Amino acid sequence: MQDATLDALNHRLALPGRLSFEAGPGGMPHALITAGDFRAEVALQGAHVIAYGRAGAPPILWASRLALYAPGKAIRGGIPICWPWFGPHPTDPARPAHGFARNRMWAAVGAAEGDGVVALTLRLSDDEVTRALWPHPFTLELTVGVGEALTLELTALNPGAEPITVGGALHSYFSVADVTRTSIIGLEGAAYLDQLTGLTHTQAGPVTIGAEVDRIYGATAATCTIVDPLLGRTISIAKEGSMTTVVWNPWVEKARRLADFADDEYPAMLCVETANAPGDTVTLAPGGRHTLSATIAAAPIG
Ligand code: BG6
Repeated sequence: MQDATLDALNHRLALPGRLSFEAGPGGMPHALITAGDFRAEVALQGAHVIAYGRAGAPPILWASRLALYAPGKAIRGGIPICWPWFGPHPTDPARPAHGFARNRMWAAVGAAEGDGVVALTLRLSDDEVTRALWPHPFTLELTVGVGEALTLELTALNPGAEPITVGGALHSYFSVADVTRTSIIGLEGAAYLDQLTGLTHTQAGPVTIGAEVDRIYGATAATCTIVDPLLGRTISIAKEGSMTTVVWNPWVEKARRLADFADDEYPAMLCVETANAPGDTVTLAPGGRHTLSATIAAAPIG
């Protein structure tokens, strides 16, 4: 990252002591945001929140020690933005999994503060590269709010003359002490597609993890809460604009297959994703917009 680019970003948007732009991991530009005791790092590539937490407390988000921070590469951890589709492309497996938004450089367009929250807005618009993968005009904006909660608001706008159909996810990776000792509350009674078998089941009781898990929970707007007794905390994920929640842990074999995921890391993470997964895509009329949002907060147990 050239100093001149960072200087220009800081000149335009920095909030002294609250928000600054620096060369992050791999020399990639990122924003450092501080709001009271809370701190977040946001990579401009992918509009990717790579860290969030309270000073002196365990991190809330997880990132692999093998994560790649390089142009065009998705980062393994934090909160990748999956868009305009979730998972494999519906008809063409050659197109990137989870869309292209997480691989593109976004523009920083706004900064604001108030009520203990510091916010940064990033924007991605269509260009030759995105139109080759998805032939539609679009404007996508992510506002990240940092304070006692972390908020993400992803708004897609259709500036074109034809309707567009979009899916996606705020693919949040959470840090847990031991995934086999955690549970997720909020999905009781929800039907889910087990992506490992293609079968549908109904969730009985809290979700617990003791093997590879890759599930799309449908018809649910519920807040999910990760209960982590070993860390003595919960992490709640409230959402809007989403009727699907994805729960993922790669476990032993899949972790081995992922080059940017160390073999021994799967017990320390759990993905609970605020999604517009297949079956929950949104069609935007010309001029239409859709906001997918998540509010993430940790709290002590008891
Ligand atoms: C999850 C999917 O959302 O993301 C999984 O349900 C997938 O099937 C996982 O393996 C990670 O995807 P990627 O493309 O970042 O390796």
